[in-house]
Amino acid sequence: MKFDIVTIFPRMVEAGLAEGVVGRGIERGLLDVKVHDLRAYTTDRHRTVDDVPYGGGPGMVMKPEPLARAVDDIACRRGTPGAVVLLSPQGRPFTQGEAVRLSRLSHVVLLCGRYEGVDDRVRTTVATDELSIGDYVLSGGELAALVVVDAVSRLVPGVVGDAQSVEEDSFSRGLLDCPHYTRPPEFAGQKVPGVLLSGHHEEVRRWRKMTALRRTLERRPELLTSAALDEEERAMLEKIRQEQEREP
Ligand code: ADE
Repeated sequence: MKFDIVTIFPRMVEAGLAEGVVGRGIERGLLDVKVHDLRAYTTDRHRTVDDVPYGGGPGMVMKPEPLARAVDDIACRRGTPGAVVLLSPQGRPFTQGEAVRLSRLSHVVLLCGRYEGVDDRVRTTVATDELSIGDYVLSGGELAALVVVDAVSRLVPGVVGDAQSVEEDSFSRGLLDCPHYTRPPEFAGQKVPGVLLSGHHEEVRRWRKMTALRRTLERRPELLTSAALDEEERAMLEKIRQEQEREP
């Protein structure tokens, strides 16, 4: 899978790509990630990427031409991308579902905004999507682009060694994950739940489902309205709800 990231801070993005799952995916040739310095697509002596806002007001606005030129050049040299994503707090929320959608494309371009914002004509003429990684304001789209590359890369076959662990990840089924434990069996006065030491695979499986559902109901109940629950999970949820009615 190919990613092209356009930014005024290429080193910041490169540092984030060098380690971990994404770094290994790149080393192993499963991911092809190129970082582009937006200033290389300017034409003036000062390599200007921003300008004052029409209508006045504080801060600067990113000019459209360098971003448009960068995307044209990427399309020429690397092929037409399946999506050109503008990262901004005004975007559609980036969810696991969006990550799955992007992972089915073979080439994604990510545009990192900075300053007060990006000239809106980038959204309407250059980008195909505008995504936000959450309801908070970052100083730029770089960290958001790294978040998107990370979440999408995990879904590219082979990037995460254990495919089962990706399938069972929190959110891959629309639920929060169950709690995890490793040795020692007791830590800070807290024992590992006995069922996990019992060796009863079927009971462990049921315990994990129950705790995942309980956590989701307690912490993120809104997720349950769109989660695809199987029959067993629906029955478990009913049981948990009854428990909670008895002892709220
Ligand atoms: N740029 C600034 N804040 C952002 C956010 N929350 N998501 C994506 N891009 C951003």
